[in-house]
Amino acid sequence: MKKIAIISPSVRRGRKSHRVALWFKSYLEENNLAESEILDMAEYRFPLFDERLKKQENPLPEAQKFAGKISSADGVIIISPEYNGGYPASLKNVIDLLTDEWRDMPVAISPVSDGPFGGTQVITSLQFTLWKMGAWTVPTMFPVPRVSEAFNEEGLPADPESMSKRTARFTGELLRCIMASELPAED
Ligand SMILES: Cc1cc2nc3c(=O)[nH]c(=O)nc-3n(C[C@H](O)[C@H](O)[C@H](O)COP(=O)(O)O)c2cc1C
Repeated sequence: MKKIAIISPSVRRGRKSHRVALWFKSYLEENNLAESEILDMAEYRFPLFDERLKKQENPLPEAQKFAGKISSADGVIIISPEYNGGYPASLKNVIDLLTDEWRDMPVAISPVSDGPFGGTQVITSLQFTLWKMGAWTVPTMFPVPRVSEAFNEEGLPADPESMSKRTARFTGELLRCIMASELPAED
């Protein structure tokens, strides 16, 4: 069974995007598609980035734990709320923390907003950063507009049928990229 890590970056009180992380976890597990774990930045509460993990002299155990979770995952889903047209500092904080862990890692992005556009303005900057780090960004995205209407606090969708259909396509693309990433590289 493949392992998928779901990064939930919002540390805001009353946050909404975490609902989408809950949904992906239950969808993957209930459909026996993958094991999954939510890496919740509100739990990790990392300090502001001051150096890449591999260059730190006394790394925090939480940072090492986070790095281990990413490197042992076969693929990653990043939930990204849109803050002023970009992705949150809490997400950049942990992307920059890691280096080799991102290389060849299939990463699928789900931008989220509470407005009508589904946070899609975060896509270009987030994809570009991940591409710079050697991650395999999955072309299919999963925008969630009006998140507080689309999901309740437990991560249950208001329209389970259409949400499941979209999620099947999105997670299917991620799993296909995971399989492709396991093929040996050409010499
Ligand atoms: C600082 C800040 C900036 C925001 N900027 C945008 C924006 O540029 N576009 C947008 O559609 N929504 C924007 N929003 C609304 C968020 O997408 C919405 O609040 C969403 O629920 C944020 O995710 P969170 O609740 O998990 O933190 C902003 C919210 C915050 C807190």
